[in-house]
Amino acid sequence: MDTAQAIEALFQESRRFPPPPDFAVQANAQPGIYEEAERDLEGFWASWARNLEWSKPFTKVLEWKEPFARWFYDGELNVSVNCLDRHVRAGKGEKIAYYYEGEPGDRWSITYKELLDDVCRFANGLRKLGIKRGDRVAIYMGMIPELPVAMLACTRIGAAHSVIFGGFSPDSIIDRVNDAQCVAVITGDFGRRRGSTVALKQNVDTALAQTPSVKYCIVAKRVGDPVMMKPGRDHWWSDVIAGQPTTCEPESMNAEDLLYLLYTSGTTAKPKGIKHTTGGYLTYAAMTHKLVFDLKEDRDIYWCAADIGWVTGHTYIVYGPLANCATSVIYEGTPDYPDKDRLWEIVERYKVTILYTAPTAIRTFMKWGTQYPKRHDLSSLRLLGTVGEPINPEAWMWYRENIGGGRTPVVDTWWQTETGGIMISPLPGISTLKPGSAIRPLPGIGADVVNDQGESVPLGGGGYAVLTRPWPGMLRGIWGDDKRYVETYWSRFPHLYFAGDGCRRDADGDYWFMGRIDDVMNVSGHRISTAEVESAFVGNPRVAEAAVCGKLDDITGQAIYAFVTLKSGENGSEALANELRDFVAEKLGRFTRPKYVTFTPELPKTRSGKIMRRLLRDVAEGRALGDTTTLADSAVVKDLEERAKTEIAQEDA
Ligand code: WTA
Repeated sequence: MDTAQAIEALFQESRRFPPPPDFAVQANAQPGIYEEAERDLEGFWASWARNLEWSKPFTKVLEWKEPFARWFYDGELNVSVNCLDRHVRAGKGEKIAYYYEGEPGDRWSITYKELLDDVCRFANGLRKLGIKRGDRVAIYMGMIPELPVAMLACTRIGAAHSVIFGGFSPDSIIDRVNDAQCVAVITGDFGRRRGSTVALKQNVDTALAQTPSVKYCIVAKRVGDPVMMKPGRDHWWSDVIAGQPTTCEPESMNAEDLLYLLYTSGTTAKPKGIKHTTGGYLTYAAMTHKLVFDLKEDRDIYWCAADIGWVTGHTYIVYGPLANCATSVIYEGTPDYPDKDRLWEIVERYKVTILYTAPTAIRTFMKWGTQYPKRHDLSSLRLLGTVGEPINPEAWMWYRENIGGGRTPVVDTWWQTETGGIMISPLPGISTLKPGSAIRPLPGIGADVVNDQGESVPLGGGGYAVLTRPWPGMLRGIWGDDKRYVETYWSRFPHLYFAGDGCRRDADGDYWFMGRIDDVMNVSGHRISTAEVESAFVGNPRVAEAAVCGKLDDITGQAIYAFVTLKSGENGSEALANELRDFVAEKLGRFTRPKYVTFTPELPKTRSGKIMRRLLRDVAEGRALGDTTTLADSAVVKDLEERAKTEIAQEDA
């Protein structure tokens, strides 16, 4: 099946799951909430914002100078106080904030009071080093308890964090650290992954040779093998907190002060530093976490099985759950270590009630088979969620049946790094679910599907997903590049936020997302730009030119397909293909390793020399070729089709 057929099949899905009555009666979201929001939008958002603790209450809700928003902008608050202190003051200090499960099987838990103590000690240590309000701090760590502590400590002292996913390469660290002019990097000695280790500190050392703004590097010990420590620059975490008190005066931050940067791929090779600020983001994280996951503070054990290095982890492992005083699970490793039942073992051990994961993971579990979940008692689960890419109805059904025991609602949540939190999703307890549909915009959110002219497409039709009004969790721009912010999101159609996703709406008005429509690939829920991968390829001295596209993949959603032209004198071989795959993985990070590489003496180009990407996608997905009349040399694609067939057969075998 190719992408077009897959989309058509998706849209034919007709199964319906109304909310189970026993879920509906107890749900946080009750019918009427959509209308309530529409009646008085600013009042609705203000009431959610007032659930937070403000050191200086806001009197203004929104200033909208399109496309720049300011929310609650005369108010002040501190994020760590909202995530920790106020719960401890309310007598919930002994409540468990995180159950922590290490990959090798070590485990412990941390209460809200203990987490507050750790955050204060580390925040004091950061201040003592000289890190201050307004600074940017990069964080490059594995999934260890020190990671949320580091993020919260930054918020305590008013420094913005920029978390860099632990799978990124030194080059990616350099770009991100330099763009934001970070003064410090917080890292670990090593990360643990699938029984082996990842040399985090060594990657940082390589990067720091080219990042003049960095004055301090703080290293948390996880594995204990020796690492290089540069005197004056590098400090062990344990030394930074040594002797520090467990109290730390929080900075009172303006609602619009920068909370964090998170870099994401766009359509060019340069990643964008997405800006999120303090008051609106936290309001939106807490609200969406409470409504979409139906979080009940006193009885849920909540687990978002994402990595904190991506936005899903920021909003739904750290800020949303902590703001709501939830008890969460954090797991360090991969789902197949030591065996393919690891996640289900964890669900059983902690009696997890809410599980949030990605379609790629679900499709992988399907492939592994039901014997793994069957080994464990999963009856504690009451709600399941997915995020990151379109979910095919089969995977949705499999998840509900085999993990949710046929009882649990499944919420397919659509959102982006830019949106800060979930935007389009069912509300469990209210929505009738359809496998494969993200259903509808959350209360207060404005969305639409428009055609090339920016006109709303009638129900039943498809086009581009857009957002029609500002919301508290929205990005405030791109770090250092307002122009790119305006161009990327607000220029395609007047007065509409352009998401970059294709979408259809059915006759009921429910949304069915169809994947990216720009040059961004989605591989296992990771956003990767074709331009970034192409530029990595041509960084290799043997490569003359490369064109990259996404190919529909049963497991990872899309897989990276690279068409590569070598410099004259070089010969394409399987060994060279592997060398280039490694080269790209090393440049950008292991998750960008291309699955398919086809060498070609020439890329299909128009007479004006433009690479015909549409044709390459057709070739990659084995489709009949579209219009080839504008090609300079039509023999090129015929030859390419043959080569691609061989490559696909080989890699899929
Ligand atoms: C895709 C992840 C279909 C989409 C939170 C979006 C989805 C991009 C869904 C953002 C979903 C995310 N259904 N597609 N439920 N959720 N996407 O910034 O293409 O890593 O634009 O944020 O993932 O990826 P990002």
